Order: sequence, then structure tokens, then C-alpha cells
Amino acid sequence: MSQESLTSVDEYVRQVSEAAAYLSTRSISSPIGIILGTGLGRLADEIDAVTSVDYEDIPNFPVSTVETHHGKLIFGKLAGKDVIALQGRFHLYEGYSARQITLPVRVMRELGVETILVSNAAGGMNPVYRRGDVMLISDHINLQGVNPLAGQNHDPWGPRFPDMSDPYAEELRQIAREVAREAKIYLQEGVYVAVTGPNLETRAEYRFLRGIGADAVGMSTVPEVIVANHSGAKCVAVSVITDECFPDALEPVSIEDVLAAAGEAEPKLTTIMKGIVARL
Ligand code: HPA
Repeated sequence: MSQESLTSVDEYVRQVSEAAAYLSTRSISSPIGIILGTGLGRLADEIDAVTSVDYEDIPNFPVSTVETHHGKLIFGKLAGKDVIALQGRFHLYEGYSARQITLPVRVMRELGVETILVSNAAGGMNPVYRRGDVMLISDHINLQGVNPLAGQNHDPWGPRFPDMSDPYAEELRQIAREVAREAKIYLQEGVYVAVTGPNLETRAEYRFLRGIGADAVGMSTVPEVIVANHSGAKCVAVSVITDECFPDALEPVSIEDVLAAAGEAEPKLTTIMKGIVARL
């Protein structure tokens, strides 16, 4: 580990405080945090926005480099509850460190967020999954080769060796299942494996990832969920299955295909997320 990463935690803590201080005048007490995934930003339209802030105006916030991500933090009401939504997230493949990617989660915690809802687009490897399905994440595997908690621990934020026995809180998953059942949405439930990307996987990689116990694969979510758990927040996450990753019948996939599938499945995601928020 480099000397820099051992000494920079104080600077990182300062950056988080500065961003949180900038936003605190707009924030409400104990809001629910929402992180919107690739092609899944339209849930933000359902938010009765009080105010929104461009990422570039927030001190120390990374700026999303992916065109499909808007890069706005929205404060408002969803299903009658106070929420803070991140429209546009950061990925390792953009060149950011795991710590930079998760800075918004630390900021949300400083603003009083205790529960975080996450969405993402993912490739489906479980053979019963189909493009357009929604999957409640039951657990994850971190294959990104980095960890946002690496380096010196800031003890006031959380423990050096945080527990990961319930990273996607069972009580929240139960709510998600009920919401889906009532809305007659078929909700898969499975393990998400995070890779760095940006390339999609080879057939051999899909075979391997399926073999180690994953149902879906994507390039996000795990760093944010690790940090949320480290800091004592509860998480619930839903993947939209945007492509079928069956190694023996693999078709080429473009980002346009992924976005189209995300767009088609988005109403289901919106119903589930809104329903969870309503019951919190
Ligand atoms: N692999 C990795 N990430 C993804 C995929 C995939 O097949 N689909 C959507 N995000």
C-alpha cells in the first residue's frame, strides 16, 4: 500500500465534510438515499423535487463521465418521504478510485441518510433469467480487485473489519418482495458479482462467474454497498437484467441494447423502489 493512501484519509474526511456542509442547507432531516443506475434515472421524474444540485457545483464531488448518467443530486419527496437521489453514479472504469466513487455515500451519511436504495443494470447469468427481468440482490461478490475501505480506517465512520453477513438487509428485502407481489411484478432474487469493466465479459468469464455462485454481473453497486454497511446504513438493491449472458448462446451486446432494455424494464423498477420508500 502506498504511503499516500495511508495518509490521505484525513484529507478524504475533510472533502466529505466540505461537500456535506455545502449541501446541508438544502437537506432535510433523515432522508432516504437513492442511487440510480445506468439507464435507470427516470425514477427521478417521480420525485417531487425541492431542489437539485449539479455534481460539478458540489465541492469535491467527482463528475460523471458517462453520457448516460446525468450527474445531479436531487432533494425532494417520493411517496411522501424525504429523499436524496443521486442521478448518475461513478464507476471504477471511469478511472476513479474506489474511495472517490463512494464519496457520495459518505456525504449522504453525513446528511443523515440511514437507508439507501440502489439500482443498476446487470447481465443475467442464471439461465432462468430473461432480458428485462428485475432481480433483488440477495448478496454480492466483490471481484473488482479494490475495496473502498482500503487504507487507514476512519474510526468515527465505522469499524476496521465491518461485518458483511447481511449487506442487503433482510428486512428491506422482505418489503421489496411484498411490494413486487402486490404489484404483480415477478422479482428474481440472486447474487450480484461486481467486476471493473468497461468491457463486457468473455464466454469463459461468464462461465467462471456463474460457477462461483453469481446470478448477475455488473460494474457498480458493490463499492457503495460496502461503504454503506461500513457506516451502519441499511441497503436494498435491485438489478435490471439488460442482457442474457449464457456462455453457450452468447450474442454480441452493445451499450444501446443495454440502455434499451433498462428503459423497457424501468417502470417495474420504479414501482418497486417507490413502493419500498412508501413503506419505510
Ligand atoms: N456484464 C457486466 N456488466 C453489465 C452487463 C454485463 O453483461 N450488462 C449490464 N452491465
